[in-house]
Amino acid sequence: MLQDGKLYIGTSRKPDDSINKPEYLDLKFGNRHGLVTGATGAGKTITLQILAEGFSNAGVPVFCADVKGDLSGIGAVGEAKDFLLKRAQEIGLEPYDFQEFPVIFWDLYGEKGHRVRTTMTEMGPLLLSRLMNASDAQEGVLNIAFKIADQGGLPLLDLKDLQALLNYMGENATELSNKFGFISKASVGSIQRELLILEQQGAEHFFGEPALKISDIMRTTNDGRGAISVLAADKLMMNPRLYGTFLLWLLSELFEELPEVGDPEKPKLVFFFDEAHLLFNDAPKVLIERVEQVVRLIRSKGVGVYFVTQNPLDVPETVLAQLGNRVQHALRAYTPREQKAVKTAADTFRPNPDFDCATVITQLGTGEALISTLEGKGIPSMVERTLVRPPASRVGPLTDAERAAVMKVSPVAGLYDEDSDRESAYEMLAARAKKLEEAQQQADQQAPESEEQNGGSRWTLPGFGDEPTQASTTGKPKARSGYQRESVVEAAMKSAARSVATSLGRAIVRGILGSLRR
Ligand SMILES: Nc1ncnc2c1ncn2[C@@H]1O[C@H](COP(=O)(O)OP(=O)(O)OP(=O)(O)O)[C@@H](O)[C@H]1O
Ligand SMILES: [Mg+2]
Repeated sequence: MLQDGKLYIGTSRKPDDSINKPEYLDLKFGNRHGLVTGATGAGKTITLQILAEGFSNAGVPVFCADVKGDLSGIGAVGEAKDFLLKRAQEIGLEPYDFQEFPVIFWDLYGEKGHRVRTTMTEMGPLLLSRLMNASDAQEGVLNIAFKIADQGGLPLLDLKDLQALLNYMGENATELSNKFGFISKASVGSIQRELLILEQQGAEHFFGEPALKISDIMRTTNDGRGAISVLAADKLMMNPRLYGTFLLWLLSELFEELPEVGDPEKPKLVFFFDEAHLLFNDAPKVLIERVEQVVRLIRSKGVGVYFVTQNPLDVPETVLAQLGNRVQHALRAYTPREQKAVKTAADTFRPNPDFDCATVITQLGTGEALISTLEGKGIPSMVERTLVRPPASRVGPLTDAERAAVMKVSPVAGLYDEDSDRESAYEMLAARAKKLEEAQQQADQQAPESEEQNGGSRWTLPGFGDEPTQASTTGKPKARSGYQRESVVEAAMKSAARSVATSLGRAIVRGILGSLRR
């Protein structure tokens, strides 16, 4: 039953209930993505658990979110409970061995796992706009903020860096608008308020350093098993946009960082998106298009993406079309929308002459599913009505003590636990303001009014050459203090840029989802 190169999912049976045949997910199609759907309590989490177990045993690292806390048991050896033994017997799973798996717990809040963070600079304006549910005008301002930071060499690490930059943009809106496009003070103000809300919702934990290294979720153990990264998401789910944005950021990082590998023997990493509807709920069209693009392209980097959600209609059609391995648990079909979901789900399968998909979907029992995986040259197998295997690890959560014990011996223990706060936009802009004030004082003491001296002065952000501002070319009269200020800004920004340029050693280029490209 257990075969090399294949992940055993369960055993299918004929309509007369006679045992039919084992169903597998072929590891060489593991990067062709997948979908697990079904109503509440139908068996999605257990299916995710047995898939994660199978990938781990095959040496494939797994990343998944634990939305209800019930997936953490994957880190403990399973117990021989009656309902599990019964299922093992029904499907002829022999021997049914129990096993614990190498898990690494992660948590944005640092409570139930190792801290996971990223920087604002790494996340980029597209995902940040999504996180803040920004209006078009706000998104425009955020794009400008990142342009100023990226080209001006101001690292945006945490929320206070962006706040400081926005302050600076508000104060210098007119001058900056000439260079970068219109900056509305009202939009700057509303973004600042949104940032405060994010901070109150705990997003500040997520932004900062040390940022998560992708290699830490791609570990394997000495005995060749893939580590299973489990993101504690119960608290995170209270802020669904943060949850969704975080997962998209991670996907985008994987995409930007991993090399092309074509179609490997088995995936390099498998990524489960539980509660996938949260990624797409009222997401702007452009974001959905980008996600679709990343999902399509990430396959050749050896990453398999598996969406887990109640309703197949939760996933946009363009994304749905790319999900090759499918597990459809029971759906209800009372309302027209539910009926539509059943029909959609049924229509995406390669039909089996033995039964009518749409009818069976509403009749499936717990832990039972319609399954079709890619086979042969990569075509979908005929759909089969399948009893999913019972997990080898524990069904249900770990205790706090067990979790703590796992974290203590984790390979990343100590790597992410402390915040570090190196010099970034906040400090640089504060230093600039201080210099400015000193210069102002000096100027007030030394020089009386001298319009001409300042009339030709101009400033630039590094990387923009030193073409004069529109204001100075058109010779529009300007308040003296404004000009005085800019030349000081210029100096401060340039020196900041130098230090950042040397520490990063590269120009900032952004990828499909707006995160950094290496
Ligand atoms: N393959 C299986 N073998 C044995 N029991 C199973 C299996 N799948 C599901 N069950 C039983 O059904 C219960 C509910 O399954 P599960 O938690 O996976 O549902 P779910 O679809 O994730 O629900 P929700 O949407 O509420 O999260 C399990 O706790 C277990 O008792
Ligand atoms: Mg579940």
